[in-house]
Amino acid sequence: MKRLSILGSTGSIGVQALDVVARLPGRFAVAGLAAGRNVERLAEQVRAFRPLLVSVSDAAAAGKLREMLGGASPEILHGDAGAIAVATLPEADFVLAAISGGAGLRSTAAAVEAGKPVGLANKESLVLAGELVMRRASERGVTILPVDSEHSAIFQSLAGHNRDEVRRLILTASGGPLRQVPADRMSAVTPAEALRHPNWTMGAKITIDSATLMNKGLEVIEARWLFDVDPDRIDILIHPESIVHSMVEYVDGQVVAQLGVSDMRGPISYALAHPERIALDLPPLDLARVGHLTFEPPDPARFPAFTLAYRALEMGGTAPAALSGADEGVVEAFLAGRCAFDAIARVCAEVLDRHRPEALGSVDQAIAASDWGRAQALRRVG
Ligand SMILES: NC(=O)c1ccc[n+]([C@@H]2O[C@H](COP(=O)([O-])OP(=O)(O)OC[C@H]3O[C@@H](n4cnc5c(N)ncnc54)[C@H](OP(=O)(O)O)[C@@H]3O)[C@@H](O)[C@H]2O)c1
Repeated sequence: MKRLSILGSTGSIGVQALDVVARLPGRFAVAGLAAGRNVERLAEQVRAFRPLLVSVSDAAAAGKLREMLGGASPEILHGDAGAIAVATLPEADFVLAAISGGAGLRSTAAAVEAGKPVGLANKESLVLAGELVMRRASERGVTILPVDSEHSAIFQSLAGHNRDEVRRLILTASGGPLRQVPADRMSAVTPAEALRHPNWTMGAKITIDSATLMNKGLEVIEARWLFDVDPDRIDILIHPESIVHSMVEYVDGQVVAQLGVSDMRGPISYALAHPERIALDLPPLDLARVGHLTFEPPDPARFPAFTLAYRALEMGGTAPAALSGADEGVVEAFLAGRCAFDAIARVCAEVLDRHRPEALGSVDQAIAASDWGRAQALRRVG
């Protein structure tokens, strides 16, 4: 029985992870849950999975949760310290890091320091501080298993192969809901339109990032650190059907890919059960029914956001953290109706222009750079 701490349990990934746990009684137990403010959903999860420790983002949410659970309440903590306590809980054998945004970095880093194997959905942990997190994981002998479907695909396509023989990684992207929207319509795209993802149901931030292709840029940064591959050997390919989840090309020109239906329970269960695979009753991949798979290059003129990730990696140090913070700020403003869709990439580019990167020495410094980027972006959108 593997005992799990799930960080971000009330989110899209967290809920699907708990669905996998519920489908496999006796295989997993829930030791700890960390969430933000959705105490109604968290209370249901506590009743269903009976964790030892729970954390929420602030004291008010903790009070409300205590009230809702009454005498049946486990220990309830709050804030960064609470999420870190869940991430380092001695009773947990595995940590699923699925908090959204830069807020997930401290708890991921704490899990690594505590020597816990991590299933990583929170790509921002590696975007903000990939070099540090991966170095500490290697020093502590900690396994980081990707949950992002593209990185899970690459991880699976690397299995049994020699890493020195990799020529390039190819990250596929659905292209998002605006793939066919012409350049002159981009400024008029509404939040509702940008949130209508054709293939995946995800949290709001990552869905908007999919619409701008910033998500793919962040995934390039994630892949750069997770697989230790230089950015000029990581390519992006638009694949609207989202069946080929990513590929690895080897030095002999052969390409290994992983295919599956668009259901995050696939990569989630792969990470949770690794090195085993578990039988899941997900809909099978019926390629005859899919009929054809299409591919096209990404268009940097309509979707400039992904190019900023390469630029940030080239700038190095704190630049990816500043970019990530800027994106968080401006996406929040877009969702609140305070700026146009095409302002997202423009503002992020302006923030990157202004950033003077420093060599990255600590998690605190990465978070400070992300906060700086966010403040700069918010100042620009007014
Ligand atoms: N969804 C996907 O299919 C998918 C695929 C690949 C990668 N990812 C990555 O996985 C991560 C989570 O994505 P998601 O789509 O699941 O996001 P989401 O649906 O927005 O959920 C975010 C989760 O994080 C919690 N949270 C937010 N701020 C927090 C804080 N300060 N302290 C503690 N908990 C906090 C939220 O709590 P409350 O809701 O309770 O406030 C919620 O449980 C992101 O990094 C995303 O890029 C997601």
